[in-house]
Amino acid sequence: MQFNRKIADYIGWEETRYDALLDLYEPGMKVSDIDKVFSEVRDGLVSILDRIRAKGSEVDDSFLHDKFDKRLQEEYNRELAERLGFDFEAGVIAVSAHPFTTNFGNKDVRITTRYDENDLMMSVYSTIHEAGHAIYEQNIPDELAKTNIGGGVSMGIHESQSRFYENIVGRSRGFIGAELPKLAERFPNLSKVSPDEFHKAVNKVMPSLIRIEADELTYSLHIIIRYEIEKAFINGEVDFNELPKLWSAKYREYLGVEPANFREGVLQDVHWAGGMIGYFPSYALGNLYGAQMLYKGILRDLPDYNEIVASGDLRRITGWLKDNIHIHGGTYKPSVLIEKATGEALSASYFLRYIEEKYSKLYGI
Ligand code: CO
Repeated sequence: MQFNRKIADYIGWEETRYDALLDLYEPGMKVSDIDKVFSEVRDGLVSILDRIRAKGSEVDDSFLHDKFDKRLQEEYNRELAERLGFDFEAGVIAVSAHPFTTNFGNKDVRITTRYDENDLMMSVYSTIHEAGHAIYEQNIPDELAKTNIGGGVSMGIHESQSRFYENIVGRSRGFIGAELPKLAERFPNLSKVSPDEFHKAVNKVMPSLIRIEADELTYSLHIIIRYEIEKAFINGEVDFNELPKLWSAKYREYLGVEPANFREGVLQDVHWAGGMIGYFPSYALGNLYGAQMLYKGILRDLPDYNEIVASGDLRRITGWLKDNIHIHGGTYKPSVLIEKATGEALSASYFLRYIEEKYSKLYGI
């Protein structure tokens, strides 16, 4: 982390040193842009979380932790990826401890997922997420594929695609209604679970310490905490040895939980240890971009969006993403791309609206 301060100075910066690192992952984005949207998101999410806590309702997700045969999970995941638009002629799905996507051009896009016999949705959401990244790369036009703009434009826009499929589509009531019968065919223990119960279970809100296990509502808070800390460190406002204390204070303040040790706190991610400072904001930016695409692009152009999701055939939605995002590859900076696709600069309001609409219904708040 210390060395990243030097790297930023070698690269050069104008407003704050952290801008130089941010630009490596989200070209053109500045601290002044992110501070504004992230503080709105943070305050909005904390207040929705408070309302859910005050309501105090328990969600039963025990049926997701029954026993699910791994071979049947593999079969289902393969079919699901295909339905989302993953092209097996130009890609493969393998297994790894931590799922990822890697590609060699647009004709060889490889994703991994992971299986747990006692956690059905772990593989399902890993597959959907990585398929979202992969579909982006597979849809890069051949004319761009062998150039230096022949790939996804930024980490944030990439995450917008994976998270759009994983959360906005994959955790919606419509999608669950379409997929549950297909799951219950393979896993009869789910045949007594209703789509509403299933929908609630995959959206269970549970403030926790570990980012990669976080629910959709609290996930962005995990990211904002990391952003605030790494920005303060790079800009020289805090020292290295103050990070664990700062971490605990922010977790207590935003999420109401506190790590008992460094392993479940400040040391849990690979990013800082690997020197990838400036990367974290991409995940939350992806959530914001995705919600803005939904409200200002997809719902505008596909008024029957909800029916499409509920039909289980997502090709027209993937088609929108292809026509408005994927085909441009790295031609436009993220800020230009989002404005072209949605007619507006990046705003926090669509993500907050999406979260508000979703969780007020789910939790009756
Ligand atoms: Co991702």
